[in-house]
Amino acid sequence: MTAPGAAATAGPSEVVSLVDGFSRIHEHWSPRIAATLNGQHVKLVKFRGPFVWHHHAAADELFLVHRGRFRMEFRDRTVALAAGDFLVVPRGVEHCPKADEAVHFMIVGPEVTSNAAGGKPAWSYDAGEPGADAP
Ligand code: NI
Repeated sequence: MTAPGAAATAGPSEVVSLVDGFSRIHEHWSPRIAATLNGQHVKLVKFRGPFVWHHHAAADELFLVHRGRFRMEFRDRTVALAAGDFLVVPRGVEHCPKADEAVHFMIVGPEVTSNAAGGKPAWSYDAGEPGADAP
């Protein structure tokens, strides 16, 4: 079942438009599953602000930036990503994404990790853009 306004999950051989998929997402921090393959989800996420430090014990996580830019902080370094860049965070490695402005990215991983990891801020439940108190 798909939430109202959510991007539909594509079946095999169906073309997926990222522009269209992101246009259907009206909340930050709410990954939408755009497709599944080999036990992995392809998720579209709109994101802004800092997330929380976390790791995934058994899952590598791929981030591909569609629009905007963000930083992935690791305990020993920070990596900047812009549209067209992607990064694989290895399993077990602590990471914390941060975006000063809204960024649209795709995550490929075996589960919907962003919400499960906790830290989804209260303002992210409002429809539309973050409020004035957003980080
Ligand atoms: Ni993660």
